[in-house]
Amino acid sequence: MSGEWRIVAGCDDIEDGDGITVKIENREIAVFRQGQNYHATDNYCTHAKAPLVDGYLDGAIIECPLHQGRFDIRSGKALCSPATKDLETYPVRKIDGEIQIRID
Ligand code: FES
Repeated sequence: MSGEWRIVAGCDDIEDGDGITVKIENREIAVFRQGQNYHATDNYCTHAKAPLVDGYLDGAIIECPLHQGRFDIRSGKALCSPATKDLETYPVRKIDGEIQIRID
């Protein structure tokens, strides 16, 4: 079953190395920019729900601002304790200068 693509921002609305949050259907999603690549994950840490968009982005790794758990924003994989549960990720595409996220 294919999901629906939603326009969430313009490509230039996110600074390189930074992220924004968007709300879609009661989900808060973080959209991170890494050069010309964009990645979307749930915004809330799987450990104790701190907002990851306030964390420290180092390349493709986001460090949680609360207990410093780390996740790979490309795969959502939890990389170190106390974060043990992976993050949900969402497909992202760029069309005509806009970022779209697919919600299934
Ligand atoms: S809330 Fe993110 S590591 Fe604890």
